[in-house]
Amino acid sequence: MDRLKTRLDNVFTFIAQDGSKRLATKSLIPLRDEKTITFEGEEYRIWDPYRSKLAAIILKGSSIGIKKDSSVLYLGAANGTTVSFVSDIVSEGTVFAVEFSTRAMQDLIRVSTPRMNLVPILADARHPVSYKNMVTEVDIIYQDVAQREQAEIAMRNAGLFLKQDGLLVLMIKSRSIDSVKKTSEIVDKEIKQLESSFDIRELIDLEPFHLDHTAVILQKVFYI
Ligand SMILES: C[S@@+](CC[C@H](N)C(=O)[O-])C[C@H]1O[C@@H](n2cnc3c(N)ncnc32)[C@H](O)[C@@H]1O
Repeated sequence: MDRLKTRLDNVFTFIAQDGSKRLATKSLIPLRDEKTITFEGEEYRIWDPYRSKLAAIILKGSSIGIKKDSSVLYLGAANGTTVSFVSDIVSEGTVFAVEFSTRAMQDLIRVSTPRMNLVPILADARHPVSYKNMVTEVDIIYQDVAQREQAEIAMRNAGLFLKQDGLLVLMIKSRSIDSVKKTSEIVDKEIKQLESSFDIRELIDLEPFHLDHTAVILQKVFYI
């Protein structure tokens, strides 16, 4: 089987038996109970784009600039599924993972415990001042909170934590914001609120992996 290095550190693509292109990461910790694939005697974790929107945007060819030494603020970490892959990618960096559900946090703590670069934070992303003392300045904010006030949450967090020229990756689920309006109208409205501080780099429709979802990648160019 051929392994293809992607433009991203610690991420690989391969062609599955059904002919589809798949992603895998080099695990930061020993693997247990995971779907894996072996290349040249080394095990890799298979990363499912139907379960992770970040995997979907990478498979769709996004140029998201995440590197092995990046620091990432991840808003809406849930039970840590995608966060664990981000932790694999930033093997020499740090992931600050914010989640406000206490139920999800129990799983997130289990995922974080063996991973020295993953910091779980039980907090509400709408109030970033509450975790100001736990988070450093970051290269990337990844926001997947399925909330109405996407742009406001992004601005508040980017103002406190995102480096100048840093990237904001926003996952917009149109039905969580408005069930009647068209996806494009909803995405435009959110972007309009961010235009004063960010340049828009990419808009990615996540179909067929995730319906009604758009990923927006923006770069912070002005002080907030
Ligand atoms: C769509 S899920 C995230 C899935 C996750 N990013 C993944 O790929 O594995 C949204 C998560 O955001 C969390 N969330 C929603 N609003 C939040 C807020 N204001 N602060 C922190 N977490 C929030 C929810 O509890 C939920 O776990």
